[in-house]
Amino acid sequence: MRQGPVVLLGCGRLGSAMVEGWLLTGSVDPAELIILTPSTKPAAERARVLGARINPPADELAGARCLVLAVKPAMWRAASEPVVGALAKDTAIVSVMAGVRAGDLSAGFQGRPIARVMPTTAVAWGQGVAAIHAEDPQARTLAHGLFQPLADIVDLDDEDLMDAATAVAGSGPAYLHAFTQALAKAAQDVGLPPETALTLARGAARSAAASARGEGTLESLIGQVASPGGTTEAGLKALNAGGQLDRAVADAVRAALNRARDLSA
Ligand SMILES: NC(=O)c1ccc[n+]([C@@H]2O[C@H](COP(=O)([O-])OP(=O)(O)OC[C@H]3O[C@@H](n4cnc5c(N)ncnc54)[C@H](OP(=O)(O)O)[C@@H]3O)[C@@H](O)[C@H]2O)c1
Repeated sequence: MRQGPVVLLGCGRLGSAMVEGWLLTGSVDPAELIILTPSTKPAAERARVLGARINPPADELAGARCLVLAVKPAMWRAASEPVVGALAKDTAIVSVMAGVRAGDLSAGFQGRPIARVMPTTAVAWGQGVAAIHAEDPQARTLAHGLFQPLADIVDLDDEDLMDAATAVAGSGPAYLHAFTQALAKAAQDVGLPPETALTLARGAARSAAASARGEGTLESLIGQVASPGGTTEAGLKALNAGGQLDRAVADAVRAALNRARDLSA
């Protein structure tokens, strides 16, 4: 497999999260990191201090092992056009963009090996999850090398399932934050002051996230909190009365999936 620098094209929310994760875990040597960004970003600046190159001349891209594409889906053709000619023919392209098909990327990058990855921004602190799809074994190995230190990995052989992974894991943290918001509102409804309500709701979310890191099943995690006939059990019954919670979550995932498919059409 080609050695050489990792080039990151786009250092927004997700690009910055990846840079933070690589620096935190030491999995990408900053001296082997090139960041292409139109504007100054704190994560890129931290990497620069440690030896990363920001917007170097195009000839420095020639030795790149891979280009990680982290711009908005609507931007990728315009953003990649100035760099594609500077890359070696076997530089792998690792796209973290939602909805952009490997076939389109391969055509845009003149047949270079493609991996698609759908990570969460918790890669910043090595706690993300990432779905990977790559037909090319070397591109898959490369994507594993970049994300394994930052995330739990699932490999998806069927590219169509990347949209489903986007709808579940890419969007999932926002659904869970929305749930926390609803919990904070409910806390106010039962008399808690706004600040206190928010502290309690966020603390509950943090506690759930911390316990979810362990090996226990979700049933056992629920069982640790909900004793038979107790308060939590009463709350859980109301939460999913008539299957309303299951339905709301299924509707959210279906809507996100449809949108991901619209974007990739
Ligand atoms: N955020 C998430 O949780 C998440 C999760 C999974 C996948 N994704 C995917 O990740 C991609 C980026 O999302 P995001 O949330 O990080 O968006 P974002 O914050 O808007 O970042 C996109 C970045 O692209 C940069 N950019 C624009 N034109 C460029 C160019 N010509 N060359 C280099 N960089 C350029 C922008 O720079 P400026 O800031 O200077 O305009 C911006 O910082 C999207 O395709 C999305 O589908 C995001």
